[in-house]
Amino acid sequence: MYADKPDLVRRIREAMAAEQHDAAFYAMLVDMAPAEDKDIIKHIREDEFKHYKMFSDMYTYLTGSYINVPEPDVSPPKNYKEGLASAIMGETSAVEEYRIILIEAPFWYMKDWLYIIVTDEQKHADRYNMLYSRA
Ligand SMILES: [Fe+2]
Ligand SMILES: [Fe+2]
Repeated sequence: MYADKPDLVRRIREAMAAEQHDAAFYAMLVDMAPAEDKDIIKHIREDEFKHYKMFSDMYTYLTGSYINVPEPDVSPPKNYKEGLASAIMGETSAVEEYRIILIEAPFWYMKDWLYIIVTDEQKHADRYNMLYSRA
């Protein structure tokens, strides 16, 4: 256990919960989306599952234990465009949060993973912005 890194472990556990939340929320967005948007959101959702797995592996590496964070119940947005706006806010907040984990990560390979995750979230924000602008 990285007893000197309780803050990092907490942030990683919260990141796992955030990834599960986003995956659940985006499943609802896919249902509300017009046909031409669905694949873009599905691809973003697959990224969130990949991130969950990466954070889960980091958690196990740092603590020696495995935890499972279940998909939460998420309430649907009022409409598709509101859902996109909330997705953009969520993705940009994730960038801010995850770059702290990147800086605190004690190993280079972990920093590489965080680099991939942070740039994915930035990519998600860009794509949701594109969908928002034509919704
Ligand atoms: Fe993510
Ligand atoms: Fe994301």
